[in-house]
This record gives sequence, C-alpha cells and structure tokens, in this order.
Amino acid sequence: LALALCVSAGGDFDWTKQEKTSFYYGTFPTGFSWGVGSSAYQTEGAWNTDGKGMSIWDVFAHKKGKISSNETGDSSCEGYYKFKDDINLMKEMKLNHYRFSISWPRILPSGSKSKNKREHINEKGIRYYNDLINMLLDNKITPVVTLYHWDLPQVLQEKHGGWQNASMVSYFNDFASLCFERFGNRVKHWITFNNPWSIAVEGYETGEHAPGLKLRGSGAYKAAHHIIKAHAKVWHTYDTKWRSKQKGLIGISLTADWGEPVDVSNQRDIEAAERYIHFYLGWFASPLFHGDYPQVMKEYIGRKSGQQGLGASRLPVFSPQEKSYIRGTVDFLGLGHYTTRYVTQKNYPSGFGDSYFADRDLAELVDPQWPDPGSEWLYSVPWGFRRLLNFVKTQYGNPMMYVTENGVSEKRLCTDLCDDWRMQYLREYINEMLKAVKDGVNVKGYTAWSLLDSFEWDEGFSERFGLYFVDFSNKNKPRYPKASVQFYKRIISSNGFPN
Ligand code: NOJ
Repeated sequence: LALALCVSAGGDFDWTKQEKTSFYYGTFPTGFSWGVGSSAYQTEGAWNTDGKGMSIWDVFAHKKGKISSNETGDSSCEGYYKFKDDINLMKEMKLNHYRFSISWPRILPSGSKSKNKREHINEKGIRYYNDLINMLLDNKITPVVTLYHWDLPQVLQEKHGGWQNASMVSYFNDFASLCFERFGNRVKHWITFNNPWSIAVEGYETGEHAPGLKLRGSGAYKAAHHIIKAHAKVWHTYDTKWRSKQKGLIGISLTADWGEPVDVSNQRDIEAAERYIHFYLGWFASPLFHGDYPQVMKEYIGRKSGQQGLGASRLPVFSPQEKSYIRGTVDFLGLGHYTTRYVTQKNYPSGFGDSYFADRDLAELVDPQWPDPGSEWLYSVPWGFRRLLNFVKTQYGNPMMYVTENGVSEKRLCTDLCDDWRMQYLREYINEMLKAVKDGVNVKGYTAWSLLDSFEWDEGFSERFGLYFVDFSNKNKPRYPKASVQFYKRIISSNGFPN
C-alpha cells in the first residue's frame, strides 16, 4: 500500500532533488505582472459605516480574549477613506496590479439580496468599490479581486452555521453574481476564495479565527467541502453567464507552506512529506484539477475514522456528477506561500482523538539556522518556494499561476523603517520564483503581501507585513515607506535581477 500511495500521490515530482543553488541573475518574461495585496477586513476599517452589515470578523474581534491585546479591525488603516492615497503609493511604485477583496456584508448587509424584501443591496458599498476600481484603471493598475477573504456576513453564520451548511453555496453564488453584474465590465481577474485551508482549519477546527468553532476532526473537512462546491458553482456561473461578454478569468487562491522530507533517502519521510502537502494544498487543488480529494487523504482519514472503506470516513464524499462538475474549474491558480517545514514520519498514538493534525501522521520540524524575523511560524526558506512551484507544475499539469501572496512580517516596532530582513526575504524568494520560471513553471505574476501594515487576524496589529509602515496610534493612520518600497520598486523596474 505504501508504495502505491507514493506513486499515485507524488506524480513525477522528484522528491530526492534537494539542490539549493546560488543566486541567479536574469529577468522575468516580458509582461510579468508585479503587484501588492490586501484584504477588506484587514485594511478598510469603517466597520459600521454607510450601511455596512456585520461580518463574522466584526463579531469575533469584539469578543474579549480572541485577538492579541483585544484589538479589532474597526478602523484599521482607514482604507475605506484613504484608498486614493494608497493608489498614489502604488502608482509611485509602478505596480501592474493590485489585489484586494470585496467585503460581502458591505454590499449585502444581510448576506443575500433575494430571500426577502427587507434584504437589500447597499449602494454606498457598491460605490466605494466602483470608485476604487475606476481609479485603479485610470492609473493603469489592474484590479485583481478576491470575493471571499474571510468576512462572511454574520447573519449567515447565525442563521445557518456558516460554511458548515451547504446553503452557503447558493448564498455565495448570489453574492458573486452581484459582483460580476456590477464590477465585471471592468474587473477581469477574479479570485473566489482566499486560502480555504485557513478558513476551514482555523475557523472550524482550532477556532483561532472567526467564527471560532472547535469542531475537531470533522468541522474543517465539512467547511472545505462546501467551499470547494461554492467555488465550482461560481466558476460555472461565470463561465456560462458572464464570460462571453466580460472575457475575464476566474481562479482561486490557495496558500501552502512547503514540506521537505527530513531524510530523502528514507521512503517513509518522503511519504510523510507527500501527506503534508496533499493535506494542505492537495485538499483543494486535487478536487479542482483532478476531480477528487487526494487518495492519501481518503485513505488516512478513512482509517483514522475507524473504517477500512471510505464510506463512513469523516472526509465527505463527492458524487460522480459533482466530481466532473468540480474538475477543471480554475482558469488560473493563485498561490500564497510564506515558509517551509521539514517533515518526518510519526504515528499519532491512537486515542489521541480525531483532529485534522492527527489525521496526517507526521511531525513537523524547523532548522534552527533558518532566519525567523517576524511571525513565529514564518521562517525564511527561499528554496521551498521553488520546490512548491515545481510541485504544482508536475502534479496539476502546469496551470497558469499567479503568486497571490508572499512576504514577511516584523514583530518589533521598526522605527528607522530599515527593514533589511524583508529586502533579503523578497530578494531571495523572488529569485527562487525566477528559477522556477526557468524550470518551466507557468507563473505570470507576483503579489507582495502586503502594501500596508494591517490587522493581522488573531495577532491584531502586532505583526506587520507592510511595505509601508502605518502609525496606528495616530487617528489619521499615516503611511511611511519602509526601505523595501524602493527595493521592490527596483525589482519591478528591472523586471528581476539583470546582471
Ligand atoms: C494569509 C492571509 O491570506 C492574509 O490575510 C494574511 O495577512 C497573511 N497570510 C499573513 O499571515
């Protein structure tokens, strides 16, 4: 069995190749797109302004003890008011695209527009996104729009249990359709979901993120199942109703760390690393590209659920019709990536209880030599990026890809704005991406995370990912460039690292 799993899971990816090559001088193909990213709840503020409804993050952040220092995104960067200034910053950097998200409850305060008469479209919210999109286009910056970056309307959580409930598929489809109708004449790059792994695991398994549920061992799988179906539904809606007129592309943004076998001469470590990546990226990528969950997930969760067969596994099952409906619903794959782990085989003791983490039967390790400047989980391991990009190429048929997130944070308050570790991180990660392009990986653009320091979810404002420093203690939220702004600008203007 072990051998069969390895072959079906790993494709022709060469796990034994652990080369770490030196810096590569060269440039990206002409037309490579450079951008920065953000999301609505992290930056907009204006949480209860102009008719916006409440999202699960508004409610979660207002509960005591959920967020570091009990901070909230109530005002954050005040992006709702300062977007013109921010576009000027982007223009200054000569960016090609800007990735942002639409707050669902800002345009549909009660989640939907059609279920009863009291529910309505918030035209002021629509106007905000129209102004933002129009000004980007006036400045020749392509909008890349995420439909769901975690801020579900609170009513849908309360009434239906959020992503635990299959009804979210049609609610999300209604919301997405409204966005295509109102913005699709100008937006040509759509991302359905941002980082569904995080929505499922942190929202429904560990409870660190909104809605804060701890449904161990089943909640995450159920949430993911509905998210995958919702993605496919929205892709089909776009494909059948809008594509011929609007001529855009619709994808999804998956985030994954890389998992490297501790010992590549040990088959069990290789299999552990395969499980790591298939439970992470493959959980979503495999249904979308191949029509079903990775074989290794079905086997392991089935076994851990006390079943030999797959029928009563905690992992939900797609019907044959669903499989063919879901397969092939990605025009481009968005990839978010930050860091790497070493992985080794470790049997979780039985009786440990059901959980996503225990289901994988592996242990994660880090090298104490890896630089660790910011978030405690974020070690700088540039070569893992090239490996991940190549894995996507071999495993999923080299789809068109955009890197939708990559970057590093700082914990300390860096008052001289000299973020040398960020410049180092960007230089090396972007260089590994360049090597991946030379390897033949079909990556068309790169999005640095993030334009501004912003609300970093359960970490509040204590982790800063911005190229621009934001002074949150000042109510005007002034922005100051860190050294990495000029650095990134140089990479953009030379389209890489010319000799
Ligand atoms: C992934 C999330 O999509 C984004 O919102 C977050 O700020 C970054 N990772 C950094 O943790």
